[in-house]
Amino acid sequence: VNNQRIIDFLNEARTFELGATLQYMGHHYMAQGIDAMPFIDEIKDIAIVEMRHAEALAERINYLGGVPTKNTTEIMQGGDLMKMIRDDLGLEEGAIERYRRGIKICEEEGDSTTRLMLEEILAQEEDHANTFQTMLGEQKMMGEAAA
Ligand SMILES: [Fe+2]
Ligand SMILES: [Fe+2]
Repeated sequence: VNNQRIIDFLNEARTFELGATLQYMGHHYMAQGIDAMPFIDEIKDIAIVEMRHAEALAERINYLGGVPTKNTTEIMQGGDLMKMIRDDLGLEEGAIERYRRGIKICEEEGDSTTRLMLEEILAQEEDHANTFQTMLGEQKMMGEAAA
């Protein structure tokens, strides 16, 4: 097992999880209006899930002998409700691609424990993407497994 390759991936993923936490909490406080009420409730719950992802990644990084990053990605703020949801869906689609890549890295390195963790996180990201797509009234793009 090449721990450094896994650690580097987990830290990359963690910066995006920290960014998603901040972006979603910002949207929770900024979204306004009667049309935004379902989004305002949902986005707070999803922000907390992303924070748990960041924490799970940190614990695994620590176990593997690495140092969990405190860096975050640039976050998207502002705009109307639909822009917020589109920006958030963009993060989830990025996360889905990233975790699929991470699962491949774990397979290559023979780290089944990290792979299992990433598979569980991936399933939650697909659920989030599905939620945002439903809010936007879009067709499902992730396949029926996400439903
Ligand atoms: Fe996440
Ligand atoms: Fe997510």
